[in-house]
Amino acid sequence: MQDALGAVQSLLVLGGTSEIAASIAQRVVERRCQTVVLAARDTDATTGLAIDLERRGAKTVETIAFDALDIASHEKVIGQVFENHDIDLVILAFGVLGDQADFDEHPAAAAKAVEVNYVGGVSAGLVTARQFRRQGHGTLVVLSSVAAERARQTNFVYGSSKAGLDAFAQGLGDSLAGSGARVMAVRPGFVHTRMTEGMEPQPFSTTPDVVASAVIRGLARGSHTVWAPSILRWVFALMRHLPRPVWQKISAR
Ligand SMILES: NC(=O)c1ccc[n+]([C@@H]2O[C@H](COP(=O)([O-])OP(=O)(O)OC[C@H]3O[C@@H](n4cnc5c(N)ncnc54)[C@H](OP(=O)(O)O)[C@@H]3O)[C@@H](O)[C@H]2O)c1
Repeated sequence: MQDALGAVQSLLVLGGTSEIAASIAQRVVERRCQTVVLAARDTDATTGLAIDLERRGAKTVETIAFDALDIASHEKVIGQVFENHDIDLVILAFGVLGDQADFDEHPAAAAKAVEVNYVGGVSAGLVTARQFRRQGHGTLVVLSSVAAERARQTNFVYGSSKAGLDAFAQGLGDSLAGSGARVMAVRPGFVHTRMTEGMEPQPFSTTPDVVASAVIRGLARGSHTVWAPSILRWVFALMRHLPRPVWQKISAR
């Protein structure tokens, strides 16, 4: 339960090895969060972050095995966390970018990426929402993307999966009105993490730290959508209305 000053006391990260989620978790812990649960495919890979979060003041950092593709397990895995803890904040961070050229050659690989990003997100999001309704409070932060706003031809499978996830987050947030729970969709641009390693940065590329600051600000304001960096909100207000031939040229890069 959030404390008297509204600070998050407990956090669950779905995709506990995400670099963006790690930055958010660090900020949240520095703001007095006591309990963190890191849910990841490879639980050993969360050890470094767990130690870091304890150093920053977290009293309890737990790790659990979680695979977004194992839909049948979501009720049990997430349910178990809520059985053991009252959770204030869940960050839905898992996701894969993939490679469009590879997807063109291997449609099954594209379908699998969509299954992680969208299908897994819908399942984990609905399970979380049910737990929040039962608690009567809680915030779900969904790591969407500017790619959700208008699909680029260079990564349209990823963009379409994020568009689905983003629409889901908006609708879920509306459906939770009055329950005490809420959803905040986060739309980062190009962020320097291992997901984008070796790629040519896009304009307004940013860092996990900048995304984390935007998330903390958004949580304090009760925002339903956050852009990182914030200027992308206005850039994409324009981009989404560009004539198709112009967008085709821009999105080919
Ligand atoms: N970096 C960017 O430019 C950018 C921009 C906009 C939005 N985003 C979104 O932000 C989120 C975090 O990305 P990031 O930049 O922090 O990249 P990251 O460090 O590569 O994080 C991606 C996370 O997804 C997890 N994951 C992948 N498949 C999974 C599965 N089947 N089950 C459970 N977890 C799985 C990864 O776990 P493993 O360690 O097991 O692989 C990792 O924890 C993603 O949803 C991404 O789409 C990123």
